[in-house]
Amino acid sequence: MHPYQNPDCPVEERVSDLLSRMTTAEKVAQTLQFTIGKDTTPNNIGADHPFDPRVGSILSFYGGVTERNAYQKLAIEGTRLGIPIIWGADVIHGWQTIFPAAIAQASSFDPELTRQISRISAAEAWYGGVDWTFSPMVEVCHDPRWERVVEGYGEDPAVAGKFAAAAVQGYQQPTPEHPETIAACLKHYVGYSASEAGHDYAYTDISQRALHEWYLPPFEAGVRAGAQTVMSSFNDLNGTPAVVHHGMMTGILRNSWNFRGFVVSDWESVKQLEAQGFSSNPEHQAVSSITAGNDMDMVDGIYRHLEAAVESGRLEMRYLNLAVERILRVKFELGLFEHPYTPERDPAAVWLRREYLDFARRSAADTMVLLKNEDDLLPLLPERYRRIALIGPAADNSDALLGSWLALAAAGRKPVRTETYRDVIADYFPEAEIRCAPGCAYRSSPGDEATIAEAAALAARSDVVILAVGEPGDLTGENKSRADLRLPGAQEQLVAAVAASGRPVVMLTGSGRPIIYSGTAERVQSILHVWQGGIMAARAAFDLLTGAATPSARLPMTFPRAVGQVPIYYNRHRRARPESGQYSDLAETPYYEFGHGLSYTTFTYSELRLERRDGRIIIEFTLANTGKRSGSEVVIWFLSDPEAALTQPAKRLISFQKISLAPGTSQTVRLALKPEQDLSYTDETGQRVFEPGSFIISTGNRSIEFQA
Ligand code: BGC
Repeated sequence: MHPYQNPDCPVEERVSDLLSRMTTAEKVAQTLQFTIGKDTTPNNIGADHPFDPRVGSILSFYGGVTERNAYQKLAIEGTRLGIPIIWGADVIHGWQTIFPAAIAQASSFDPELTRQISRISAAEAWYGGVDWTFSPMVEVCHDPRWERVVEGYGEDPAVAGKFAAAAVQGYQQPTPEHPETIAACLKHYVGYSASEAGHDYAYTDISQRALHEWYLPPFEAGVRAGAQTVMSSFNDLNGTPAVVHHGMMTGILRNSWNFRGFVVSDWESVKQLEAQGFSSNPEHQAVSSITAGNDMDMVDGIYRHLEAAVESGRLEMRYLNLAVERILRVKFELGLFEHPYTPERDPAAVWLRREYLDFARRSAADTMVLLKNEDDLLPLLPERYRRIALIGPAADNSDALLGSWLALAAAGRKPVRTETYRDVIADYFPEAEIRCAPGCAYRSSPGDEATIAEAAALAARSDVVILAVGEPGDLTGENKSRADLRLPGAQEQLVAAVAASGRPVVMLTGSGRPIIYSGTAERVQSILHVWQGGIMAARAAFDLLTGAATPSARLPMTFPRAVGQVPIYYNRHRRARPESGQYSDLAETPYYEFGHGLSYTTFTYSELRLERRDGRIIIEFTLANTGKRSGSEVVIWFLSDPEAALTQPAKRLISFQKISLAPGTSQTVRLALKPEQDLSYTDETGQRVFEPGSFIISTGNRSIEFQA
């Protein structure tokens, strides 16, 4: 047995032993990622491209475990060194049990929820033959036109960092109930979300300051949590495309953060260096990318040119060695050499288990944000409503609930049928007469006058209207940017017509991004923003509507009044004339601000106190549930630093907690700060700077704002 084959040898020894036995061709093969029989990319294994069992990785393979294991066997038994293939897939918010999308998860302000979602996703995906997920996406997003905001954790770097760490730990750290783990991948590194004008794949111009203040911290948090891989991004960052950005991939990621895993490029991004105006020479593209620190090449096959580059001396072998070492290290750490095959299990035993579905339902309810609730229309007490109208394009359509990133759907295999609102409503209102009408399609505009009129007439004959609207899944997710952020198609027209009936209207909005509610929200009494809540979203929404669950989610991203306000985010920097500089034709405040979200109960904040103890500043207050129901309050702590050598945003989040309280009970909530660390800021070189002086710490909810 060679040392690399011995599980008792330390990983580093196994890596260097194996590397020392590899030919240049075998090393290059490890840096290549392939698809199988699915598309037209150069690295697609199909009729014109035979399978090379020495390949490093295969992605997006949905052919089943038996076939996966057969390919793996060729790698293990049919090659000289028997190196296992690592199988990657986009397990973004679930594998079979589809959970709420990431932007929804962030709305829970409960990273534990994401840890558990990721844990279950890892367990399900592992039994589907997946070793590695391309998740979490941890980019801070300031522009809701950019369609991929649905995949991220919103606009705040500290929130995104907490969720990034939770997701990484969920995927990678086994628990007794779920010993199966898969490697996480932090993406897209870095700055992709700043794509100009909200386009996809566009140029990004980001100052060093903004990189360190906003875009890098969530990645750092994910690396510190142990992420095994990172995906470099598509964007050209200040003139240096991310996939050849030495400063980011080597300087910061490896040298500053000590990242030990590997970096994979995004889909064909090495080849796209030509379109970006960097180089049309494939060998130059490959050499520039690997020397910058990008180790694996996703599907475009450009890294095949590395072999000739090494032979001609245009690429030093040490760069290829480094990349291969990093890839092998992850394979050893994942245990792939010892367990290369996926056990074939009865799907019913490992997928869509009852407890997974129950958790999907509870977690969806924790992510839906109650934006408006005039006259306490909600919760709807079933005995009060005899005739209920369920109207809207989402009423009997699950597209808006499931979202855009469904690994199995990408392979043409939808998860089990997802219940719609129409499927479940009768369970909640067993005595009521329920009538349903779509009113309009998601996208067609103008709407059909007759169907809209029919929906309005139905509303007029009802005691209450539940209006299910939103963006369909195919208007969100990669390459689906929007310039208009209002409800698509004729839906605003439908809202107006239904509201004109004079009946109370509860709107359920599904979306993958902040929606512009101006002109719409005013017409209805209540709005529950359900995002893309996953496979159990319909029941979760009705649990909230009827009070079986109490809303507790908050917005992790600002909802603008108009697209003209974009980019808009709460932690903006101050301007020279605070009282001036507004738009002449629009308020500058958002429609719904970061952190907004209502409950069915009330919380009060009182007895604020501050003391210094053991070099720390301790701030405490009493949080009481003064309402009639149990509920959870998201306590957000903001910091203001009014004078600094490098000016600071008017406020920025430094901590958050989610606290559950029974009615009539209270709890002391505490924030303990280490001044040098927690009151410092990051400068444009990434250094923490602490300037003694005055600081303002604030917390509170919509009725109270405390300052210390
Ligand atoms: C996306 C990535 C994804 C990859 C693999 C790319 O187009 O940008 O987020 O992980 O494809 O499917």
